[in-house]
Amino acid sequence: MVTRLKTALVALLLAAGTAHAADDTFKIGLILPMTGPFASTGRQVDGGVKLWMQQHGDMVAGKKIQVILKDDGGTPDQTRRIAQELIVNDKVNLLAGFGLTPLAMATAPIATQAKIPELVMAAATSAITEQSPYVIRAGFTLPQVATPLADWAPKNGIRKVVTLVTDYGPGIDAEKAFSSRFTANGGTIVESIRVPLKNPDFAPFLQKVADSKPDAVFVFVPSGVGSVFMKQFTERGLDKSGIKLIGTGDVVDDDILNDMGDVALGVVTSFHYSAAHPSPENKAYVEGFKKLNGMRPNFHSLGGYDGMRMVYKALEATKGNAEGEALVAAMKGQSFESPRGPVTIDPATRDPIQNVYIRKVEKVNGELYSVEFATIPMFKDPAHK
Ligand code: PHB
Repeated sequence: MVTRLKTALVALLLAAGTAHAADDTFKIGLILPMTGPFASTGRQVDGGVKLWMQQHGDMVAGKKIQVILKDDGGTPDQTRRIAQELIVNDKVNLLAGFGLTPLAMATAPIATQAKIPELVMAAATSAITEQSPYVIRAGFTLPQVATPLADWAPKNGIRKVVTLVTDYGPGIDAEKAFSSRFTANGGTIVESIRVPLKNPDFAPFLQKVADSKPDAVFVFVPSGVGSVFMKQFTERGLDKSGIKLIGTGDVVDDDILNDMGDVALGVVTSFHYSAAHPSPENKAYVEGFKKLNGMRPNFHSLGGYDGMRMVYKALEATKGNAEGEALVAAMKGQSFESPRGPVTIDPATRDPIQNVYIRKVEKVNGELYSVEFATIPMFKDPAHK
């Protein structure tokens, strides 16, 4: 009874919350894991947000943009509580960030109730955008980036694969997308291994991979976890076993890639962004990001940077109308040239359509980078019906 009353009260406050936002400011509640095991995601997204604002100022369509950054530590209960406080107390016009799938999922009902956009900058499970018409995504989805690799692999001598993924939304998306396309292309999945999200120990799973003797192991681990994975991959001697390592680009995340050492050389992944993407826009982006934030940008940083671009362009289009529905409508269908390449926000799914690149880790000027060697242009998430 008490819980039900509390829920009703929160719903009432949420619905009322947006009505009183000051007219001359536009407030963005930016919720990110700034501490805990996924703090690198928070740092990267926030770095992208800061770079966009450094380059484009804080006035759009007569509104002063104010970003309120809050740390959820990567815990869904915290994300939910912070989202409610930001709406009710701070009267934010838009919620952004969301470093992991469960955090984005937990907030979707709140966005619906409050009628304000939930701009997902990092989390990448396909189904997130289906949780609320107010959810819109700036980053990518796992089926989008995993599928093209399942076309590349069989053409390059890979016929038997073991999949090894982190056991939650994006990992399951990656496993399903890769496996279904790979088998449709005549390949065989020897084994599908799922590893816990919390405190992962890959050693026993890697032993299973070694015993199965596949041509390759396909890997998804969330951004940041690649270092531990690579260390255990080497310790188990898999780097010398002849079993190739392939995966989505998360495992060789630009934030940690250069510290992995030569074991990462030759790893082939598919992804929507590499810091080595050869375009003038990206060269300027990487330089600006390093100067401002003191680190190499990874793919999550683009979610922050292009997410802010989406908000700025939307506010310009609505001439400062900050209503949630109008903003989401103005973000749908946007097309722009990002440091990652061309991007269009699919008006039907509210997900980015973008190039997916096949890349190989190489040494460039003494540093490790994922160097792109093939492009699948403007590829759409095939998991959306
Ligand atoms: C997610 O939780 O959705 C997620 C996190 C990190 C990634 C990809 C997906 O690298």
